[in-house]
Amino acid sequence: MTHTVHFRVWRGDAEGGGLADFDVEVNEGEVVLDAIHRLQATQAPDLAVRWNCKAGKCGSCSAEINGRPRLLCMTRMSVLDLTAPVTITPLRAFPVLRDLVTDVSFNYAKAREVPAFVPPPGVAPGEYRMRQEDVNRSQEFRKCIECFLCQDVCHVVRDHEENKTAFSGPRFLMRVAELDMHPLDAAAETGLDRKSTAQEEHGLGYCNITKCCTEVCPENIKITDNALIPMKERVADRKYDPLVWLGSKIRRRGA
Ligand code: SF4
Ligand code: SF4
Ligand code: FES
Repeated sequence: MTHTVHFRVWRGDAEGGGLADFDVEVNEGEVVLDAIHRLQATQAPDLAVRWNCKAGKCGSCSAEINGRPRLLCMTRMSVLDLTAPVTITPLRAFPVLRDLVTDVSFNYAKAREVPAFVPPPGVAPGEYRMRQEDVNRSQEFRKCIECFLCQDVCHVVRDHEENKTAFSGPRFLMRVAELDMHPLDAAAETGLDRKSTAQEEHGLGYCNITKCCTEVCPENIKITDNALIPMKERVADRKYDPLVWLGSKIRRRGA
């Protein structure tokens, strides 16, 4: 069955822009990206939209549908209220390049600030042994497709450009947590304290565990419950456990 849907699509660039109205034919079973492609093909050939896989795996078609961060390719038209116009806008937390395409380089800069896994000395790759629950935790976090919907929705940066320097956002705090909880990561032996970097360099303290990031994650990663809250607990244990505190001082003095 085909029907006509009224879309309001943000058009413009870094200088400014606004919502443009379009009526687009939509077929049963289609997703929002299908409608955007039909709009490009029939009425707005210069509309800029980023996409690659159309399968929810590349993370590039992130935008906001009726104000909610979503993947255009994984949002079925049938889940939307089609009695009202469907509004498509670019990710609000990042600078617009053109139309629905934003500059997400903030995220790449934050990714570079997280030091990589440090291999354990004396254990060759292939000889690593871990408990299954540790494997499961890393695998959950590594389902991330880097769509940055969680980064976009987080209120710490969504309307607060000034917080971007001090806050890495849920995706990269999750990466720090993954590495800090990794039983084979030898960062501490090289003098790298991931707990203090989480707090002091990546802004863990800004997160007040609202879980908005978890709610928008298309991979259903429990970012808040499985990464951010455990990381906060690990930082707090370090701070308030006198034995842990003493141990860290002695280690630092001996370093
Ligand atoms: S739980 Fe923390 S990181 Fe996630 S959206 Fe809320 S404040 Fe941001
Ligand atoms: S954690 Fe989820 S929402 Fe955030 S970038 Fe990865 S896949 Fe996207
Ligand atoms: S086009 Fe790849 S996730 Fe949507």
